[in-house]
Amino acid sequence: MSYAIAIDGPAGAGKSTIAKLIAKKKNYIYVDTGAMYRAMALYFLEEGIKADEAEKISAACPDVDVTIRYENGEQIVLLNGRNVNGLIRTEAVGDMASASSVNKDVREKLVELQRALAAKENVVMDGRDIGTCVLPDADVKIYLTASSKVRAQRRYDELTAKGESCDFDKIEKDIIERDERDMNREISPLRQASDATLVDSSDMTIEEVADAIIALCK
Ligand code: DC
Repeated sequence: MSYAIAIDGPAGAGKSTIAKLIAKKKNYIYVDTGAMYRAMALYFLEEGIKADEAEKISAACPDVDVTIRYENGEQIVLLNGRNVNGLIRTEAVGDMASASSVNKDVREKLVELQRALAAKENVVMDGRDIGTCVLPDADVKIYLTASSKVRAQRRYDELTAKGESCDFDKIEKDIIERDERDMNREISPLRQASDATLVDSSDMTIEEVADAIIALCK
C-alpha cells in the first residue's frame, strides 16, 4: 500500500515549497496538481479560448493530454507531449487555471491522473481538493494557510527576485480574488477536510512547517 500526504490550501501558502521538502526528506514523489491545471489552462490560452467560454473548454478537453514525468526528482508536465514547465508559472496562466478549473470535464480528467499516480507511488500531493476529493483516504491531510498579506509578500519577493516589476497591492488583490473563486466554485471547492490538520505558516519557517507535518506521519 502506498502512503499519501495531502496538502491543500490557498495560493501562496507555501504548499509547493513544503511539499517538495517533505518529499525529499521522506523520499516520496511530489505531485504538483496545480501544474496540471496550469498546463490545461495554457492549452486553452494558446487556442484562444476565454475563461468564460465553458462550452469551448469542455469541447477542447478530449484534445488535451496532460502527463507527468520525473527527471532528477523534478516533476515535468507534458502538454500533448511538450514539456511546458517553463511556460506555466505566469500570472496569466495561473488566473486561467483558477477560472478553467471550475469546469467538470477539466477536473475529471486531472483527478483521474492524480489518483493513478497516488495508487502506485508514495506521494506528497498538493492542491485545493486533495484531502476532500482526490485522495479522501490519504494517510495525512494538511490544510496549509497564511494571511493574505504574508502570501502576497511571498509572491512579491518571488517575482522581484526574478526581475519582474510588480505592485504589492495588486498581487494581494489578485490573491484574494483567486481564493474567492477557488473556495466558492461548485465542484470540489477549496476547503479544509474535516480530518485535516490546520497549519498556519504565517509565522513559521519552511523547516518548522515541514517538521510539523512529518511529525504527523506515522
Ligand atoms: O496551486 P496553483 O496556483 O498552481 O494552482 C493554480 C489553479 O489551479 C488554482 O487557482 C486552482 C486550480 N487548482 C485546482 O482547482 N485544484 C487543484 N488540486 C490544484 C489547483
